[in-house]
Amino acid sequence: MAPQESSDQALNQIEQMDQKHVFGTWSYQSEVEPTQIVEANGVRFTDSRENTVIDFSGQLMCLNLGHSAERVEDAVTQQVSEAEYVSPSYTTEARAKLGKKLADVTPGNLTKTFFSTSGTEANEAAIKIARFYTGKEKILSRYRSYHGATYGSISVTGDPRRLASEPGIPGTIKAPDPYAYGSTLDPMESLDYIDEMLALEGDTVAAVLVEPIVGSNGILVPPDEYLPRLKEIAHDHGALLICDEVMAGFGRTGEWFGSDVFDVTPDIMTMAKGLTSAYQPLGATIVTDEIADHFEDNMLTHGHTYAGHPVACAAGLAAIKTYEEENLIERAADIGRYLEDRIEDLADSHPSVGDTRGVGLFRGIELTQHPERREPFGEREDKVSKGSTVLDEVTATAYDEGAYVANMINTLIIAPPLTITEDEIDEAIAALDSGLSVSDNAMSR
Ligand SMILES: Cc1ncc(COP(=O)(O)O)c(C=O)c1O
Repeated sequence: MAPQESSDQALNQIEQMDQKHVFGTWSYQSEVEPTQIVEANGVRFTDSRENTVIDFSGQLMCLNLGHSAERVEDAVTQQVSEAEYVSPSYTTEARAKLGKKLADVTPGNLTKTFFSTSGTEANEAAIKIARFYTGKEKILSRYRSYHGATYGSISVTGDPRRLASEPGIPGTIKAPDPYAYGSTLDPMESLDYIDEMLALEGDTVAAVLVEPIVGSNGILVPPDEYLPRLKEIAHDHGALLICDEVMAGFGRTGEWFGSDVFDVTPDIMTMAKGLTSAYQPLGATIVTDEIADHFEDNMLTHGHTYAGHPVACAAGLAAIKTYEEENLIERAADIGRYLEDRIEDLADSHPSVGDTRGVGLFRGIELTQHPERREPFGEREDKVSKGSTVLDEVTATAYDEGAYVANMINTLIIAPPLTITEDEIDEAIAALDSGLSVSDNAMSR
C-alpha cells in the first residue's frame, strides 16, 4: 500500500528515524515514507500533520472494536500485573477460558485450539496439523488468496506476493477462484475445476485451504452453495477443509465467522486480527474433536515460546466478551446494510465503480477504467511493482478529505470498526466520493 496522505510536508524527526532504521513491509525501501500516528480514539486516528481521519478499513482490516476499547485495554493491564508471561507448558485462566470460548463461538464440533501470535502462524499450524492428521502432503489453495508471509503460508498464498519466495514449500497446488466479475470461469464452474484437480491428484491432498470470503484479493463473496459444496468435494477426495478466517472472522461479516455466512463447519479454522481486535498479536488454529483426538497418541510436533501468551489471551477473551455483550455481531449485520446502501449511492454516481461486493461490514469497491470491458486500473503485478496507481491517488484524496481506506490491487477495501455509526459512515463516504472523482477523471474514453 502506498502512503495515504498526499501532503508534501517533510517527515518529522520520528518518521525520519523510522525510515532510516526500520524496514517497511512489502515495500521498495526507497518508496517508504512512514506516517506517525499520534492519537487514536474510537473510529478515528490522528497523524503527525494533524489530520484526523475515520479509520474506514480498521487499519489492516483488524481493529474490529476500533481504537481505545477500554475493556480490552484494562484486561491487558491487569494480566501484565498478574502474570506477564508463562511458558506454554503452564496454563493461565486467560488461556483456558479463551480456549473454551473459541469452542463456544466457532461452529459445530470445533473444540481444541493451538495458539500462536499471528495469522500466518495460525495457517502454518493448520497446514502441519492437516498433514500430520491425514498423512498426506499436498495443500490445494486458490490464486486470489493471501494466507501470510512465512514460508508455508506464502507458498499456499496465490497473490503475487508469493512469487519472490518461490519455489516455497513442496506440495502446494493452486486452483481458480469464485470471482464472477473478473474471471473467465463462472464461480460454480471453478468448483468443478477443483473437483477435477483433486481427482487427478489421486489420494495425495491433505487439505483444501480457502478464505470463505476472500479479503485482500478483492472481497470475493462466493454464491451461497459454493462453500458447502467445496466441503463435500474435499471430503469426497479424502481432503480436509481449512477455512482461513483471519480477516473475515469476529463479526466482520455480521456473523461470527465467514463460514457461518454459508452454514459450514470446516475441519480446521484459523483466526487472528479481530480475535483480539488487534490489541495484542494472537493467532489461533481450532480443530474438530476428531482431529483433536488423533493427537492423543500422535505427537503434536509444533510449538512456540509465545504459544498461549497470557497477555494476548487476556486481550482475546476481553475482545470476545465485548463482541458478545455489546451485540456487535448483530450490529455489524444491521449497520452493514446501511453501509451497503451508501456504497450503492457511490456506485450510481461514479462511472469508475465497476463492481461492489461484500457482506456486513466487509465490503469492496472494484474500480474500472472501462465498464463494458471491465478493464481494471490496477493489475496483480502492481502489488509488487514500484510506483503508485490510480487507486493510490483515490485513497490519498479520500485521506485528505477525512477517511483512511485501504486499497489492494484494483479494489478499495472497506472494513471499519464494528462500532461505527451511520453518521461516521456518511462522513467516510463523502471523503470517498471526492476520492472517486480521481478515478472517474482517469477513465479511458
Ligand atoms: C486471510 C488472511 N490470512 C492470513 C493473513 C496473515 O496474517 P498475519 O499478517 O497476522 O500473519 C492475513 C493478513 O492480512 C489474511 O488477510
